[in-house]
Amino acid sequence: MITLREISADNFEECLCLSVAEDQKKHVASNAYSLAEAYVLRQEGRYVPLPYAIYADGKMVGFALAIFQPADEQDPEDDETVFYLARMMIDHRYQGRGYGRQAMLQLLEIMKAFQDGSAEAVVLSCSQDNIAARNLYTSLGFADSGYLDEDGDAYYRLELK
Ligand SMILES: CC(C)(COP(=O)(O)OP(=O)(O)OC[C@H]1O[C@@H](n2cnc3c(N)ncnc32)[C@H](O)[C@@H]1OP(=O)(O)O)[C@@H](O)C(=O)NCCC(=O)NCCS
Repeated sequence: MITLREISADNFEECLCLSVAEDQKKHVASNAYSLAEAYVLRQEGRYVPLPYAIYADGKMVGFALAIFQPADEQDPEDDETVFYLARMMIDHRYQGRGYGRQAMLQLLEIMKAFQDGSAEAVVLSCSQDNIAARNLYTSLGFADSGYLDEDGDAYYRLELK
């Protein structure tokens, strides 16, 4: 059974020991980088970072970082409240067992319920050649938005409402 627990003083060191396969490292930042990013975002206060450890039957197998980005009423280009799924990884030893899909389904439930369900959508960016991740996201209903980020990665979007 897959469960998600927020990263805390009790589990962050174990999270730092997880990694993807060598040829996947170009697709995802290290968990150390992600936890530093979550720390900085929390300090700044504008966005709400939600870093989660992913457990399979009580054993840590992966990590995800979702970032709640409330609309900015002062900025017409930023008028939508969304979640940005900044990171999703399953350690190389535990991939291909359905854990990524189950973790995503649970994460989507958390994002739907967060702050009374105020997020309109989940967005994420994914390298065009990351076939495993693309298959996972599209099978869950994410659609290619047609936009590319500064690294040439494609933006995907899933409506939450
Ligand atoms: C992407 C990732 C999180 C998937 O996790 P996982 O636990 O291995 O995936 P699952 O076993 O739950 O598989 C879910 C779906 O993903 C797709 N998938 C997973 N591995 C795949 C592979 N090797 N080739 C093609 N599709 C694959 C399939 O659609 C699969 O569904 P199916 O089994 O019904 O066909 C994992 O491969 C990973 O951590 N990759 C490295 C980090 C990364 O690229 N993160 C995403 C950044 S955008």
